[in-house]
Amino acid sequence: MIRWYPELPSTQSAALRAARAASAEGTVFVAERQTAGRGRHGHTWASPPGAGLYCSLLLWPRRPVADLLLLTLASGLAAADAVREACGLEAEIRWPNDLLFAGKKFGGILIESALEGGRLCAALGVGLNLRPAALPPELAPIATALDDHLPRPCDRWALLQALVASLARRYRAWSNGEDAALLAEFTARSRYAQGLEVVVGGADGYRGATAGLEVNGFLRVRLASGEVRTVVSGDVRPA
Ligand code: BTN
Repeated sequence: MIRWYPELPSTQSAALRAARAASAEGTVFVAERQTAGRGRHGHTWASPPGAGLYCSLLLWPRRPVADLLLLTLASGLAAADAVREACGLEAEIRWPNDLLFAGKKFGGILIESALEGGRLCAALGVGLNLRPAALPPELAPIATALDDHLPRPCDRWALLQALVASLARRYRAWSNGEDAALLAEFTARSRYAQGLEVVVGGADGYRGATAGLEVNGFLRVRLASGEVRTVVSGDVRPA
């Protein structure tokens, strides 16, 4: 079921509130605009009216919370699949799940979880920038929008339908424990997984070459010294 709102603070909050009321798995919350859209690492997600797709799925995962990173990777693939199906564009996937064109981000995924009545619930949120004119100007150096790469405006409804279908497919595979196939596909589709020189963690971060994924989805980075570090979450950028 899709619940479409003209305005919400955050579709994530709406999904987690619905979990407290024991709403059904798969309920989708969509907002025309968010007044307090959330990104990863405590960032905000700019959500001007009608300029993007802002949605969250309510899930009742049957796997432990430690396995949610794998669902994050699967969701990035699902979002890229939806963009391909609805817009005919091939997005780049940056570990763990940012979507980019030419190095600029247009999509992100946030999974937040909680315990309700002793059961794990999760809000799987996807934000996709569609209309470039509405992006805050300060984001111009790092952000882009789908319409910038299309001859005509992207159909938001078609994109949402493709996204919900592809997320449902990937969620089923994750629930069934199809992790090896997921990791192989992610590695094949994201140049970030293997052999890319990266900087981890911003200005005071460290540099190395990506060296594959661990079974739980963590990213391995090999430093020049030969030491291999594991990136659990965070900022990974081409060096
Ligand atoms: C990221 O930082 O890359 C993740 C961004 C996730 C944004 C989406 S928009 C819909 C949903 N509601 C939110 O408040 N955040 C997510």
